[in-house]
Amino acid sequence: MSVTVVGSLNEDVLVAVGRLPGRGETVVGREAVLAPGGKGANQAAAAGRLAGSGVAMVGRVGGDPAGDRQVAALADAGVDTSLVLRTPGRPTGSATIPVEDGSGENLIVVVPGANAALTPADVDVPAVRRAAVVLLQLEVPLAAVRAAADAASGTVVLTPAPPQPLPPELLRRVAVLVPNEHELVQLAGADPAPRSPAELAGLARGLGAAATVVTLGARGALVVPADGPVLLQAPPPVQAVDTTGAGDCFTGALGAALARGCDLAGAVREAAAAAALSTTGPGARGALPGTAAVGELLPRVPDAVPVG
Ligand code: RIB
Repeated sequence: MSVTVVGSLNEDVLVAVGRLPGRGETVVGREAVLAPGGKGANQAAAAGRLAGSGVAMVGRVGGDPAGDRQVAALADAGVDTSLVLRTPGRPTGSATIPVEDGSGENLIVVVPGANAALTPADVDVPAVRRAAVVLLQLEVPLAAVRAAADAASGTVVLTPAPPQPLPPELLRRVAVLVPNEHELVQLAGADPAPRSPAELAGLARGLGAAATVVTLGARGALVVPADGPVLLQAPPPVQAVDTTGAGDCFTGALGAALARGCDLAGAVREAAAAAALSTTGPGARGALPGTAAVGELLPRVPDAVPVG
C-alpha cells in the first residue's frame, strides 16, 4: 500500500479561549501553544500513524527552526519526509487557531509562507506517479495541485479547503472529493442555508468528481458514490475537546483504508472512527489514533443508513 500527500505544512499557534470572537471583537486567550499542523501534513500524519509505512509527504517548509519541527513531527508519525523541500528566504507556513473551551470549535487564519512556493515540478515525482492513493488539498498553489492530479496513476482524493473555484479538468481527475458542508455549498455556488442530507447529496452530484464524501462534523459524513445509494455515516460517541484537524484525520484515514483495498463505504466508516478519536486531544495531532484504537472503536460506529 502507498499513500502520497501533496500539500501544506504549517506551525499552528493554538490559543485556548472561553468563547470564539465575533467579527471586530477582541477576546483574551489563556495560553498560546505551538503544535504541528497544515492540512496536508495532518493528513499525512494520520495516514502514517494508521499505515505504519508507505506514506510520503511532498511539500515545502522554510529554512527556519519551524521547518525543522514540522519535518521531525511528520517523521515521528512514520511519514517519509524526503520530498519535503527547504525554501530559503521564506518562513514555514503558520496558522493562528483560537479553540473554544467546551465545544472544542475553532477559527483558522493561515499564512502560507513556504507552502506558496510549491511548484508543478516539485510534485512530478515517482512517489506521486506511483502511489495507490494521492491526497490533495488547496493550501498550496493550484498549479501544483493540478500537476499532482495529472501525474497520479492511483486514486486521487481532493479536500477543497480552503475553497476556491476548481477547473473542471481537475475535478474530472478526482476519484473522491472530500469537502465539509461549508466548502460544498461554496463550490456549488449555493446559498448558505441549512440543508437536508438529500439536498447536500444533490449539490455534491453536480460538482463533477466521481464520488463525494461530505464531512458534517458531529453529524458524521455523507457518502455520495459514483453510483449506488447515498449513505449517511454517523460518528461514534466521544468527548471532543478540540476539533482542529478532525477533517484532516478523516481524510488521512480514508486514504490509508482505500490504499489497503477497502471500498468507499468501509473506508468512510474507519475514517469516522479515526476522526472522532482525533478530537479527544489538543490540536490537529494531539490524539491521532493507531490501528488498535480505531479497531477498538469500530464496533461502536453506527451502521451507515441510506438517504432517501
Ligand atoms: O485543518 C486544520 C489545519 O488547517 C491546521 O493544522 C492549520 O495549519 C490549517 O492548515
